[in-house]
Amino acid sequence: MRNVDYPPIWQISPEVKDTARVVEGLLRPTLVRQYCGGNERQYLDATVPFRERQLPSLLSIASPHNLRRKIVLDLGCGSRYARDADTYTSFEPWLSRALHALDIHVIGVDIANLDGEYFDHHSIDLFLPDSLGFIPDESIGMVYAIGLFDSPALKENYGHDAGRQLRDHILPQLERIVKPDGIFMYERTGTQMLKSA
Ligand SMILES: C[S@@+](CC[C@H](N)C(=O)[O-])C[C@H]1O[C@@H](n2cnc3c(N)ncnc32)[C@H](O)[C@@H]1O
Repeated sequence: MRNVDYPPIWQISPEVKDTARVVEGLLRPTLVRQYCGGNERQYLDATVPFRERQLPSLLSIASPHNLRRKIVLDLGCGSRYARDADTYTSFEPWLSRALHALDIHVIGVDIANLDGEYFDHHSIDLFLPDSLGFIPDESIGMVYAIGLFDSPALKENYGHDAGRQLRDHILPQLERIVKPDGIFMYERTGTQMLKSA
């Protein structure tokens, strides 16, 4: 398994950003209808991070065609019920929703309730022992963990160092379930970035 840092926006090439815009444009009518009751303004307001960073970062390492041949695992995928207690920001699972709409098999995992989502979803506390035990050996082609290790909910439940501890807890599980040529793209926590700087 290859570990890849979540790229800052300026490291994503203009070509990949263009591809992401085209892909998002194709998906938009479906996502607006399924999740925003047909209200495009609501969709545009809710999906800025998804459109500007999450989708381009994923497409910087794999095309939709390539992803259709893999199972993608979205850890801490977000939930319509997940909220940052400090800022009231909501974290809806737009990436998992988009991958599903693209006909890509995505498994979204979050501690918060995922009832009502169309993609394959599991509400699980990733800190539990063998939390990914339901996933067969060497079945996953790509793992995506954005915002998880720095999640306000994670720190609230497990303390300030929880991001590093959670990464150490799930890495051996990922070694089991991810294919040898699979990719783990994740966002380091602030503390980890300082340590590696
Ligand atoms: C900052 S949000 C990021 C959501 C989404 N990945 C995104 O980029 O918009 C972090 C997510 O991690 C989830 N989370 C926090 N602690 C978790 C845990 N112990 N197990 C599973 N998910 C957790 C939260 O419920 C929240 O949905």
